[in-house]
Amino acid sequence: MLYPAGIRTAVIPAVAVLWGALAAQAHAQGSLQPRDWDRAVALAQAPDLNPDPHVVEVNLDARVAPVEIAPGERVDAWTYNGGIPGPLIRARAGDRLVVHFSNHLPEATTVHWHGIRVPIHMDGVPDVSQPPVTTGGSFTYDFVVPDAGLYWYHPHVMSAAQVGFGLYGALLVEDPDDPVAVADETVLVLSDIGLDGKGGFEPPDSGGTTGMAFGREGNHLLVNGRERPRLLARAGAPQRWRVVNAAKSRFFQLELEGQPFTRIGGDGGLLEYPVQLEALVLAPGERADLLLAPKGAPGSDIVVRAYPFNRGFGSVEYRAVEDLMTVSIADEAPYTGAQPPAVRRTIEPTSTDGATKIAIEFTIAQGQNGAFEYGINGVPFAKNHPVTARPGETQVWTITNKTKWSHPFHLHGFFFQVLDEKGGPVHPLEWKDTVNVPLEQTVRLVVRYDDRPGNWMFHCHVLDHADGGLMGMVDVGVPHADHKH
Ligand code: C2O
Ligand code: CU
Repeated sequence: MLYPAGIRTAVIPAVAVLWGALAAQAHAQGSLQPRDWDRAVALAQAPDLNPDPHVVEVNLDARVAPVEIAPGERVDAWTYNGGIPGPLIRARAGDRLVVHFSNHLPEATTVHWHGIRVPIHMDGVPDVSQPPVTTGGSFTYDFVVPDAGLYWYHPHVMSAAQVGFGLYGALLVEDPDDPVAVADETVLVLSDIGLDGKGGFEPPDSGGTTGMAFGREGNHLLVNGRERPRLLARAGAPQRWRVVNAAKSRFFQLELEGQPFTRIGGDGGLLEYPVQLEALVLAPGERADLLLAPKGAPGSDIVVRAYPFNRGFGSVEYRAVEDLMTVSIADEAPYTGAQPPAVRRTIEPTSTDGATKIAIEFTIAQGQNGAFEYGINGVPFAKNHPVTARPGETQVWTITNKTKWSHPFHLHGFFFQVLDEKGGPVHPLEWKDTVNVPLEQTVRLVVRYDDRPGNWMFHCHVLDHADGGLMGMVDVGVPHADHKH
């Protein structure tokens, strides 16, 4: 999305003014890409039912519906509004979002707004922030979306099963003064799905607790619910990809046949400064904001491939490189105009002075019956004690992963910054809500709780691991709520 350059020109340096003028021109000309360049992946958008420009009001219905993930390959999936992924919800930072949610699934569910700084009663955690929405029931989610960025929504009841069956969607919160002057933008929801080859799903408990300990992956890779879709591109023309990993367990390690691209943003909006990459690793739950200008002869293809990523025992052995998506270079003269300049963002490093130190360990144990169970400091979720905090408090967390699998740590409700071994900020600075804690390693982060008291969950975003005990609570300024399941 591009906004009129005039809004920005008063406050930004000359080079950006120049780009602003170019961007305005590009905007006037519209897209630099071939017609319908992203039609094969374009997400259905939830219509905004509210005429107020600062209120986005949508309907979201969870129901079983037939979906076609590739020509002829159908399954009765669990969907939001009938599709995988659910509809793209689009709002602007500061807008109020009202979601009329109804549940027509055979099980209770909730909707969690991953990464959004919601009030606790909108957080979608069953029995903690709201009662589960039973079959035939409904719930209205109503909150302000304070921060620009790509977020996503998914259930928080039997998450591994429900997300695995298809329940996830993207929530794009746009910056009304977005400094990224690229007109061609597409949202890519990466996921996978486990099909049994007979028109049904692989059972979500396959392999018992050993399957849980690994984290079950689906056997079909999907981009916006499709297998191996195709984007059309004009060689050299900039495009922007907003990417979320919505898979229940799979890490995506992506390459574009060695072509470089630029990461400009992450979970909570833009980075302090852009970084050039040739490969991108996204753990489940993480997002990336990318700029690229694919090169190639007219008519040639660039295949976006997913490389096996070592997330622990069993994750790379005998695993093949898989094709995820194709970018086809259109039969048009290459674009030779300007590329967008580097966009910077001022992010203050969160001070660790006077911070409370919290140390937790991710652990796994095998009971006498041979069953695996994950835990925090050796204690599974059902029995562990919450971390306590006050609004305004800063905490430095040291998270040690003693297990043989990597665990993407996700904190509800608050952004954090990742710290290096010495406790200093990692650059480029960025606001994160999900960070991978690699197997047998330690990650440090700093979080400052703003004034939203409540019982906030943290957990591994490999959803089998979360269901298998790798979850905990931070009680911010309130006594602990009983978190039964
Ligand atoms: Cu996407 Cu509790 O998380
Ligand atoms: Cu995990």
